[in-house]
Amino acid sequence: MTTDMKAYWNERFENGAIWGTEACPSAQMAVDYFKDGSAILVPGCGYGRNSSYLAKTGYVVDAYDISEKAIDFASQEAAGVNRNLRYEVRSLFDSAGSKVYDGIYLSNVIHLFLREEREMLLSHMTSLLKPGGVLILTCISVSDASNYGHGVEIEPHTFMKHENKSLHFYTEEELDEIFSDDYQILEKKLHEQMEKDPSGDVETLKLWFVAARKIK
Ligand SMILES: C[S@@+](CC[C@H](N)C(=O)[O-])C[C@H]1O[C@@H](n2cnc3c(N)ncnc32)[C@H](O)[C@@H]1O
Repeated sequence: MTTDMKAYWNERFENGAIWGTEACPSAQMAVDYFKDGSAILVPGCGYGRNSSYLAKTGYVVDAYDISEKAIDFASQEAAGVNRNLRYEVRSLFDSAGSKVYDGIYLSNVIHLFLREEREMLLSHMTSLLKPGGVLILTCISVSDASNYGHGVEIEPHTFMKHENKSLHFYTEEELDEIFSDDYQILEKKLHEQMEKDPSGDVETLKLWFVAARKIK
């Protein structure tokens, strides 16, 4: 699964900043929840549009991605500019190391996985957050009428839209459930984000934005 993902994303990032260099709306919204100068983790950072924005805003940012292409691009863009930004090629599921963070910004990543991996990913992210730290999560929603239901449904609300790439569409109830044990939800809302799909067409994604504080 991970090898396929790596190959898929390396191929997509062959063309560099495929969604443009501006930060996602959710990265700008995240700033309301991260304390000035705090340590932020950006897992699945892609080519760095959000991690570089957060570093420029003044946070101390560690960011990683499974795609070497994405990290090469991000590192070159950051060279000599962002001293408070560190990039690494690394899997989301790699649990080596003991550093914990004040905040995590997990944008448009968790919906790429099947149920078991989504659970593992959230529990791993929780282990990387300090108590009282804030997780910002964005993911695709069942309200995204232009994308929901395309392809074969392989798990509830999970569709194979492109070859080797599943998309899970979250309901509000599912978000409430996955955060119920370890977090207090501070904000949960739908928002729109313009994005290019693999064919180059521009699409508008209807995404959840969740800000949640780790309570224990
Ligand atoms: C939809 S993109 C989002 C990128 C970035 N968060 C953004 O919003 O620009 C999903 C990202 O997850 C990364 N990814 C997928 N599987 C991964 C894994 N197992 N470990 C680390 N990164 C992974 C991909 O390489 C890709 O950069």
